[in-house]
Order: sequence, then C-alpha cells, then structure tokens
Amino acid sequence: MRPKVFVTRVVPDPGLKILEEHTEVEVWPGDEPPPYQVLRAKAAAVDGLYTMVTDRVDRPLLEGAPRLKVVSNMAVGYDNIDVQAATDRGVAVCNTPGVLTDTTADFAFGLLMAAARRVVEGDRFVRAGRWKTWGPMAFLGYDIHGATLGIVGLGRIGLGVAERAQGFRMKVLYYDPVRRPDEEARLGLEYFERLEDLLPRCDFVSIHVPLSPQTYHLIGEAQLRLMKPTAILINTARGPVVDPKALYRALREGWIAAAGLDVTEPEPIPPDDPLLTLDNIVITPHIASASHATRTRMAVLAAENLVAVLLGRVPKHCVNPEVLRR
Ligand code: DGY
Repeated sequence: MRPKVFVTRVVPDPGLKILEEHTEVEVWPGDEPPPYQVLRAKAAAVDGLYTMVTDRVDRPLLEGAPRLKVVSNMAVGYDNIDVQAATDRGVAVCNTPGVLTDTTADFAFGLLMAAARRVVEGDRFVRAGRWKTWGPMAFLGYDIHGATLGIVGLGRIGLGVAERAQGFRMKVLYYDPVRRPDEEARLGLEYFERLEDLLPRCDFVSIHVPLSPQTYHLIGEAQLRLMKPTAILINTARGPVVDPKALYRALREGWIAAAGLDVTEPEPIPPDDPLLTLDNIVITPHIASASHATRTRMAVLAAENLVAVLLGRVPKHCVNPEVLRR
C-alpha cells in the first residue's frame, strides 16, 4: 500500500511528479484553500499533508490524524502549523528555506523602491487620465541611494536585502537577537542590540523576522513614533509583526512617510480596510516568493521533504528533527 498524501493546492508539476512517484496523491483543486473542516477530515485519513501558509494545522487537527507522519509546508515560514502539537504526536514538520531567499529579497527591495518613489501611485494617476504635464513638484519621493536602511531580523532574507543595499551605497544597520560579526565585516553592517535604538536612525526599515509570540506587533505605536517622519516601513515577513491600526495612524498622521506591505493582518486584507484608503502605502498580495523558478523550487523541495519522511529518510529541512530520531 502506497502512503496517502493530501496536497492543499495545485502546485508546479515537478513537485507533484515527485509525490506521484512514491505516494497516492489527492490534490485540492480550488484556487482557494480547503476550508478548515475539509482539511481536518482529509488529515484524518492520510500519512502526509502538503500545505501552504494559508492552511491552519492546529492541535485539534493533528490530534484527529492518527496516521499522519509529516506536514510539509511549501514555505519557509511555518507559523500556520502548531509545531509543538506536531512534535508531541511525532509528526515531522518540514519547510523550504534557502530556495526563495533571493527572490524574496529582490521583491522586498522592489517594494522599498516602489514605496519610496511612488511608482504605484504614479501608475494610478496615469491610468486615471490625470497626467497633464511634467511637474517640478509632482510625485516627489525619497532617495534610496546613500540612505540608511535598518534590517529587523538578519536571517537569510534580511541578509539578501542588505546585500542588495550595497549596490545603492546605503548604510545598513541591523537588529537581531543574534549578532553576526562575520556579516558585519563582509557587508559593513552596524549592529543594534535594541530595536528602539535602531529605528530613529533609519530612512528605511525592512522587516525579516518570523512570526512568533515574541514578534507579534513588534512594530506598534511606540516603535512607529520612534521612526523619522520621512521614514519608510517595508514588511515582507508576516502581517501580524506590524500592528495595522498603529500603522494606519502613523501613515495618516505623518509619523512616517510611507509603507510597503506584501503581508497584512489579516490576510487577505478586507477591501474596506482603512489602510487601502491611503495613497502612501503599497500593498501586494503575499507574492514576494512568486517567481516561476522559485515557486517550482519550493514545490520540489516540499515534495522531497515529504517523501523523505514517508520513506524513513532524513528530509533536507525539518523544523522538529527530534521526531525523526524517535
Ligand atoms: C514563505 O515562504 O514563508 C512565504 O511567506 C511564502 O512564500
């Protein structure tokens, strides 16, 4: 009997092919995620779940899944999964770090540029037929070259953004619980032990921390009020790292100049969310890793991880490796 796997969304073919070689696969055909109750019912009858960041894999779901051995997330982040509950039940949780680093860092930098130079606002203006002439005072934005960039969370993606900043001769500061003297030397970074000390120094702040109880609303009113009125906040990590109500006030009342978000709280952002009434924010639908090549690499890696666990091998990326040793 081949192990059974439920895949929560249609993913690039090379990933599915790997699953089909070794398992009996069912793919949820919808463009939207399976409703929670459906996912729970599917999980109850399979050996492997192949999930996305949109799928909630919580303790009740895991407790009702007696055969389940692995949850393989097609993402580097895994805050949608209760890892402790999975570990308690001996279920491996896998993710896809590395393969999306550069694509995500490219996008974070693109969002930074779009917000600073008002690219999306300009496009809306042109499409609305409002472009009548060249204006000496029209669409003034903020320079990127030579500015100071603060990286909050110097993991792989944060480092990727710091590397890109070199090309714009930016001064790069970072805040992270772990200091990285090797990267400080390589990229000329300046370390800040306290976020509160970094924020007032930055023209741009780019967030690259995972979502956890410690990082929930890490950027709230107090932090936004510490930033320069000309500063720009970029979030490509997870929406709930930034308090959206405080961000709305900050953008509306001019505590900061602009923001670029690829992630929101909640996701998707409701069409009547007050943030969408503002011109000084660019919001994209959680697409930082969405290049053809990278989504294929993520699909393949998530499939390889899943199959490895089911075949009793060590997967490339498992966030609770202690379950593999049991
Ligand atoms: C991730 O990988 O965690 C992203 O948010 C989805 O690409």
